[in-house]
Amino acid sequence: GSGITLVKSGKLVTCTHLSYKPFQYTDGDKTVGFDVDLVDLVAKELKVDQEIFDTPFENITSGTVFTTNECDLAAAGMTINDERKAAIDFSEPYFDASQALLVKKDSGLKDLPDLKGKRLGVQQGTTGEAYANANSATHGYTVVQFEDLPLMETAVRTGAVDAAINDNGVLYDYVKEYPDTSVTKEFATGESYGIGMKKGNTALKTKVDEVLKKAKDNGDYDRIYEKWFGK
Ligand code: ARG
Repeated sequence: GSGITLVKSGKLVTCTHLSYKPFQYTDGDKTVGFDVDLVDLVAKELKVDQEIFDTPFENITSGTVFTTNECDLAAAGMTINDERKAAIDFSEPYFDASQALLVKKDSGLKDLPDLKGKRLGVQQGTTGEAYANANSATHGYTVVQFEDLPLMETAVRTGAVDAAINDNGVLYDYVKEYPDTSVTKEFATGESYGIGMKKGNTALKTKVDEVLKKAKDNGDYDRIYEKWFGK
């Protein structure tokens, strides 16, 4: 066989951190999104069903979800970086991202220098949080942490924070739904998302990379991209 052992027989258990629309979010009683569709291709290849398990984001990046055998892989719009690579293995990159700034449209705020003395929202444990912290002394804003993306986004709309920073894909999706907000700036952080796996699970990594490559070659990737992001 392929040498792949799954944590639950007959299932491919995916850890994620909800909600991160349009990569993974709840629609009725289902978890849907770009990442969900992509991992479904892996499940299909293994002839099992995908089961999704919601967990705090740090449990994924720290590798805890793999050492406790909670899931086979993690798909969470998760940026590949060296710190995380020390704890988990990543698939080949499947999506490009950068950080971006979300504000209320009527705020007049456009960039980090406008935030002096103001409150900047971040999502806990993310690369956006790291970027905000790295630049806070220069610009003189206060960083305010939120557990998930929707809490952070809502805080911008209610005025609990003056602006917030997160990945461009999720923020552009949000402003489509809430036209009283806008994305005024992208920061060229040059990030790529990868699917996370237990360190040393090379059999699964080989399979996931094979499926990603095939999806890019046969048009499945483009079809899924268009479904969630348009043409
Ligand atoms: N790309 C960012 C990071 O890896 C944010 C990911 C947050 N994902 C989530 N499903 N909550 O740090």
